[in-house]
Amino acid sequence: MKRILIDTDIGVDDALAVIFALKSPELHVEAITTVSGNVHVEQCTRNLLITLGCMELKEIPLISQGEEAPLTLPLVTSAHVHGSDGLGGISESLSPDGTRLYPPLEWPLSSMRGPDAIIDLVNRYSGELILVPVGPLTNIAKAMLNNPTAMRGVREIVLMGGVFEIYGNVTTQAEFNIYADPQAAQVVFNFGVPVTMTPLDVTHDVVLTRDRLDAEANQRNTRLIQFLRDSTQACMVYHQGREGVKGLYLHDPLAIGYLLQPDLFDVVDAYVQVETPDNLTRGRTVGNLRAHRADSAPNARVCVGVDADRFLRFFLDRVVDGH
Ligand code: RIB
Ligand code: CA
Repeated sequence: MKRILIDTDIGVDDALAVIFALKSPELHVEAITTVSGNVHVEQCTRNLLITLGCMELKEIPLISQGEEAPLTLPLVTSAHVHGSDGLGGISESLSPDGTRLYPPLEWPLSSMRGPDAIIDLVNRYSGELILVPVGPLTNIAKAMLNNPTAMRGVREIVLMGGVFEIYGNVTTQAEFNIYADPQAAQVVFNFGVPVTMTPLDVTHDVVLTRDRLDAEANQRNTRLIQFLRDSTQACMVYHQGREGVKGLYLHDPLAIGYLLQPDLFDVVDAYVQVETPDNLTRGRTVGNLRAHRADSAPNARVCVGVDADRFLRFFLDRVVDGH
């Protein structure tokens, strides 16, 4: 069993990653911390509680709200992709009787802010806790800057972020999570704990289409399946407009998937650095993935390939089937 902490700017694909992790007995989700990214952190926390409210959980992870702005740059969001509320607009959906269709779980937040909660959990499970950031790296970097000694106890960081050999999704150069807070990302890559990346180079190979989701749901109408349908709709329509396919990339679930089935991925070691100036290459992750030409001591393992069909089957078995 792997103990993990998920750090999320919970948007649509983040919610799928949280559900995927909580439905996987191989993982114990000790805590979930929120950070501004897709939308403002207060909305991210509401989205997390809404997502948890759609699951029948026996145990609720510690929940801590984190940083509302990047280390130095102004906040950039991606509401155009995830909807104004970050969950495809469903946070305000009403039932016919006027009550909220997706009420947030009534659960107290930790009194510790994100970075402090991360430090506390790392201290509690030193050498064991795996951090899984699937949003901007602001909380993780703040924890490293505030208490580097404690943060050396992180077992590994498995993050969704970066792009190397295809176009970015914010600019042609950069992927959103890194672009949103490049200074934080540089802190993380230079800190010295093991980092594994699932960049756009692999997440763009894994698309969950509306047709596939409907086929898997197979007319079932459980609360969770309805949430999956409703929360993904806006993102899928956006994707259809841009890419011609009604679906969404499983960016964040892929980071969870790496933890569960690493054999589905091809991985290379690389020395990765981040372009931090706020100019044309802001947030670009620069790494030599040609493993035979190691130029500097590697500081990250980069997923460069994935068995998309096997991953999608595994993901759907866990998230959709049986519900
Ligand atoms: O670039 C994709 C990443 O940005 C995902 O984590 C998505 O949720 C957004 O945060
Ligand atoms: Ca995310």
